[in-house]
Amino acid sequence: MSAEPQIRRTTAPEIARRKGGEPIVSLTSYHAHTAAIVDKHADFILVGDSLGMVMHGMESTVGVPMELMIMHGRAVVRGTRRALIVVDMPFGSYEESPNVAFRNAATIMKETQCGAVKLEGGARMAETIHFLTQRGIPVMAHVGLTPQSTHTLGGFKTQGRDEESWPAHIADIKAVAEAGAFAVVIEGVVEPLAAQMTAVVEIPTIGIGASPVCDGQILVLEDMLGLNPRPPKFVKVYGALSDAIEEAVAGYAEDVRTRSFPGPEHVYKPKS
Ligand code: KIV
Repeated sequence: MSAEPQIRRTTAPEIARRKGGEPIVSLTSYHAHTAAIVDKHADFILVGDSLGMVMHGMESTVGVPMELMIMHGRAVVRGTRRALIVVDMPFGSYEESPNVAFRNAATIMKETQCGAVKLEGGARMAETIHFLTQRGIPVMAHVGLTPQSTHTLGGFKTQGRDEESWPAHIADIKAVAEAGAFAVVIEGVVEPLAAQMTAVVEIPTIGIGASPVCDGQILVLEDMLGLNPRPPKFVKVYGALSDAIEEAVAGYAEDVRTRSFPGPEHVYKPKS
């Protein structure tokens, strides 16, 4: 018998069944201890490739390698017990062909023990999503603003301001749903478009900067905690962690400099 505490995680099909029901709560996490806190409240946790920017100071997600996704994915799986863990496929690991995508998705799942992967792109990725889901890999899709395409999009720009672009976005979300994605992130699109995109598919839509009309929401944890000095405009900041860290570090520095570093006496006294 295993001595490990029992783990009963939410599954991808359970998330898929939440379409139109109680809104789905999700956040990113990259780190075991913060993921353990998020795990108490989230239905799924995304180990997003935004970790390249948030944890590693990169300018975009384009430079994130597989190794980083696997390393942070393992940490988050270790720190959690109930949420579904979804790991992002980094740029360059899935676009070339369905075979390459399968090999890399399988590596991510085997190495991290996550329950699903996420990849960016609409109609152009439908064949790959179908290939993966037919072979046992649950896929969350990601449409609208797709940050890995920042160089072709010309930056992180809200999508759908121009109504002429809506049919392409609608076609994208329909294509990924038909291909077998169990849920789809809609990032950075105007609210009426997000509403239409949500209405035309039978899988849950997870919004980020796409208004409350979606079936669930996701935010980057560090943005909503107040750790990002320049959070995206749509983010409601729920914490003031930069201030709390600054205050704690300044207090520590002061104690060290004034030799008033506190501690239980017995730690410093020689044994008699
Ligand atoms: O990488 C990430 O954090 C994401 C979210 C923005 C959805 O893909």
